[in-house]
Amino acid sequence: MTSHPLLSVAEVPAVEPYLRTVGEVFRVFREQDSGCVSCGVQLPDGERWFVKEATTAAAQTSLDRAWAFHQAVRHPAIVPQPHRIAVADSGRTAAVMPWRHGESLYGPARARFHALPLASVLRAVDRVLDAHLAVEAAGMVAVDLYDGAFLYDFGGDLLHLIDLDEYRPGPFVLDADRLPGSARFMAPEEWYRGSVIDIRTTVYALGRSARLLLDGGERRAWRGTAGQLAVLERATRTDPAERFAGVREFMEAWRAAV
Ligand SMILES: Nc1ncnc2c1ncn2[C@@H]1O[C@H](COP(=O)(O)OP(=O)(O)OP(=O)(O)O)[C@@H](O)[C@H]1O
Ligand SMILES: [Mg+2]
Repeated sequence: MTSHPLLSVAEVPAVEPYLRTVGEVFRVFREQDSGCVSCGVQLPDGERWFVKEATTAAAQTSLDRAWAFHQAVRHPAIVPQPHRIAVADSGRTAAVMPWRHGESLYGPARARFHALPLASVLRAVDRVLDAHLAVEAAGMVAVDLYDGAFLYDFGGDLLHLIDLDEYRPGPFVLDADRLPGSARFMAPEEWYRGSVIDIRTTVYALGRSARLLLDGGERRAWRGTAGQLAVLERATRTDPAERFAGVREFMEAWRAAV
């Protein structure tokens, strides 16, 4: 195998300067809430990559989780992490991911997404659910899923899942006052120390996600049917026991309603 400037390098003294020696850094994402700094870099062969580096201890914990998650879960919708680069003498790493064309639906692109033909939106919802079948099969649960994880390629009419860095093996007992996440997507149990976080918590986050993809954040703007809305209401019941038992059951009910 010929050596690759990103996929074959084990360690670098500093990430951004290194990227500038191997290609053109065409985007930099600084000052993210996560404590990561990410770069879009284009190599001389024209290939584009997204390199996400932890700059704090908390960010490194999150990148370590992300690494474990991507080792366990592969799906065409989930942007993979085929490699990570160690940053010398820091205990930190940078994750290497293929660059995906698209816009975050956490932002102005959400309105544009809402104006797409319904078939495109339903396809996007299906793709999110399908990806979470793989998450479920790997024994992982969603944490911190929100619209920032949805990168939509308007040209290719395709949704990509990014930043699933807090996903982890489940079920688990919450040993903090709350989980990280956006309140709109978080199940009630995510707010209580000692509660069990399991695949029904994931079902809740997926129900909220489908809701958002179909109403653009405005309840009155709901584009689905009453039957679909009933499925999402069941997915987002306060009591986890009243929700679907898992992603597959949710997906079957959803598909039956579509
Ligand atoms: N593989 C990718 N290809 C292209 N762009 C990407 C890719 N992954 C992420 N991005 C872009 O970079 C932004 C930041 O990525 P990401 O959310 O993973 O970083 P983060 O440090 O966790 O940020 P935040 O703290 O906001 O969650 C995304 O909103 C998206 O616009
Ligand atoms: Mg993030």
